Amino acid sequence: MTQFNDAELTAAVIGSFDQTPNPRAKFLLQELVKSLHDYVRKTDLTFEEWDYAIDFLTRTGQKCTDIRQEFILLSDVLGVSMLVDAVNHRDRDGATETTVLGPFYVGEHKVTPHGTDVSASLPGERMFVQSRVTDLKGKPLANVPVDVWHADDDGFYDSQKPSYATQGPSSRARFVTDAYGRFFFRTILACSYPIPTDGPVGQMIHATKRPALRPAHVHFLVAAPGYEPLITHVFIDGDKYLDTDVVFGVKNELIAKVEKRSDPVMPDGKAAAAPWHLMTYEFRIKPGVGAAPKPMMAKATEDA
Ligand SMILES: [Fe+2]
Repeated sequence: MTQFNDAELTAAVIGSFDQTPNPRAKFLLQELVKSLHDYVRKTDLTFEEWDYAIDFLTRTGQKCTDIRQEFILLSDVLGVSMLVDAVNHRDRDGATETTVLGPFYVGEHKVTPHGTDVSASLPGERMFVQSRVTDLKGKPLANVPVDVWHADDDGFYDSQKPSYATQGPSSRARFVTDAYGRFFFRTILACSYPIPTDGPVGQMIHATKRPALRPAHVHFLVAAPGYEPLITHVFIDGDKYLDTDVVFGVKNELIAKVEKRSDPVMPDGKAAAAPWHLMTYEFRIKPGVGAAPKPMMAKATEDA
């Protein structure tokens, strides 16, 4: 009968994956075993702690639905999402910086005409967003789909509210760039918000005395054939949580000055109730490949 000491046990588990046909899967699994075993050895993990970890992960999975992703949130607050982002985007070559996708890329992003108020039914200070998508040389790129989503004035995404089931998306849409690479829309001024704290991840953040807040931002996903999908946010300059983002997602280049304006018309010539805010930000994307992620629910429907 084989009897292992703990070092031999690790070697035996690593060796048990030796026949894995896919070399990348074999590498990932063997490295995972090494790291997990090292963690247990370093911490002298007790049975109670092991049991707690199993229960925590179980509750994390049970909190997930077609429109809620607690595991992405866990990855975000542990900095894993930003680390995966960093190791995959070491050379930007002048392209816009990337950041986390986050757990709220859900539902349907409907193609919407430029200028639409995507938060028409919501209270809040009004904001006009004007943008352009170019290649690395500044050449405008036409017909590029750009998904946008952000939290409302109370700090909630549409999918977190009961009204989502009956009223559908808000502060969420898809625009397609025009012949000059431009897109523009109306919305409300995004505000800082806490990550959801009614699940195991939020409970961990509270229990460990970490701030649960994210600085105000708008999410953008720019996906053009022949270019790397760009997953990013634009943060609003001056937000008091820029230095303490709970998911470590802020990069200086992604902070935009949002101007407070009192002009009677917005940049597309239509009347504005003063005051309003103007966000201007351009995206540069680099040639490459890779599929953009699909919004949850759309993905769940396809997988079913
Ligand atoms: Fe967000």
